Amino acid sequence: MRLALATVALILAATPALAADVVAGETVFQQCKQCHRVGVGATNFYGPVLNGLIGRKAGAVPGYKYSQALENSAIVWDQAALSKYLKEPRHEVPGVAMTFPGLKNQTDIDNVIAYISQFRRDGGKD
Ligand code: HEC
Repeated sequence: MRLALATVALILAATPALAADVVAGETVFQQCKQCHRVGVGATNFYGPVLNGLIGRKAGAVPGYKYSQALENSAIVWDQAALSKYLKEPRHEVPGVAMTFPGLKNQTDIDNVIAYISQFRRDGGKD
């Protein structure tokens, strides 16, 4: 009985947390949406399209005119690099053209990365 309860508690603890990350991340992404698009059919907007971001070199979306600062940075977007960048974009990449002050809350940062990471290069989800 105790084992069964523990198992239920474990499942309850694990499942919503995973779902909440992406759902909460979609809400955080509202702040990015004025400049960025993701998903099927998404294209460059005021900022570059964010499909297929993880593992991509910074400043590499064809047809988007990046700043020299971002293009010349040696960043490859992974969890750690995004986490630092999204906290203070203009501190992380001096001269970056993204006029967004950054996200102060680490949970928001983690959630928005989880949300964006779902989108493959073609805009579909894994
Ligand atoms: C006011 C517009 C604006 C907002 C809001 C904004 N961005 Fe950006 N973002 C840009 C621009 C412009 C660039 C290109 C910067 C450059 O070329 O220096 C960029 C670049 C990026 C890049 C680098 C992409 C690449 O191809 O290397 C990432 C990642 C990114 N933004 C994520 C976000 C996320 C996540 C948010 C929301 C938390 C956000 N941005 C909010 C305008 C914005």
